[in-house]
Amino acid sequence: MSKEVLLNGHFIPYEEASVSIDDRGFQFAEGIYEVFRVYNGHPFQLERHVRRMRASAGALGLELDDVLAKLAEQSLQLLGRSGLKEAAVYMQVTSGHSPRAHLRPVALEPTTLAIVNPASPPSAKVTEKGITAITVSDERWAKCYAKTTMLLPNAAAKRRAHAAGCDEALFVRDGFLMEASASNAFVVIDGVLTTAPASNYILHGVTRAVVLDLARELSLSCVEAPIPAEKIPSAEEMFTTGTTTEILPVVVVDGKTIGTGTPGPITRRLLEAYRSKVAAL
Ligand code: PDD
Repeated sequence: MSKEVLLNGHFIPYEEASVSIDDRGFQFAEGIYEVFRVYNGHPFQLERHVRRMRASAGALGLELDDVLAKLAEQSLQLLGRSGLKEAAVYMQVTSGHSPRAHLRPVALEPTTLAIVNPASPPSAKVTEKGITAITVSDERWAKCYAKTTMLLPNAAAKRRAHAAGCDEALFVRDGFLMEASASNAFVVIDGVLTTAPASNYILHGVTRAVVLDLARELSLSCVEAPIPAEKIPSAEEMFTTGTTTEILPVVVVDGKTIGTGTPGPITRRLLEAYRSKVAAL
């Protein structure tokens, strides 16, 4: 059977799914999305993802509570129909379509979409070796807590990292490390696990929240506090967190080695705890 997607409440073949050229997601990036992971057939942290999607809708002035509840439910149906046990589920909602005008008509039917893709954890090779990163100036808007489809700065930052021969870009705003292009960032400085506070300038990552929970369970010393970018080179350890990338050790930033240049002990402990948590689902 060909791959199915969910578009506006209908299960249809992937090749047949299309949206209007007047869709405001296409023309104005007036859309929000989520990606959640499924491990062994069990959705991971779905409630947190739906809660965040509601916050994203609010940031765009969209009232979508019922739409989002239905989309989450239908995404699970799509997951069931896919037969996949290890998957990443993408859900997107735009404000809908109407002839192009900046002012959004009041009563638009939102466009809803879900896609289920096979997923697997990052390879042992990557988690053993770690990734490299560059810092880039954070030129995004002031509502980074909203997970919107306006990903131009994120995609551009990632492209810059790749052009520099690196894996990831780290956003720095006013001298402070915020997050990475598609993940949150943690550092260990003087033995304290630190991540940027959940302000409007970062996405309040679900994996970030899970890792903070795990750190507390493991009695690790951890804080949510501003991270001066100048302190990055002296960090003992660094890693990123994200739904599909889980926990990725960062071993080089702007050409400078972090710690020993290999995944550190705190990163390893958290990675192990994360793997155990998802294995227990
Ligand atoms: N990215 N920060 C940014 C800018 C992100 O895009 C993401 C997720 C995260 C991590 O959030 P979470 O732990 O909830 O996945 C942080 C997704 C996966 C993406 O764009 O595909």
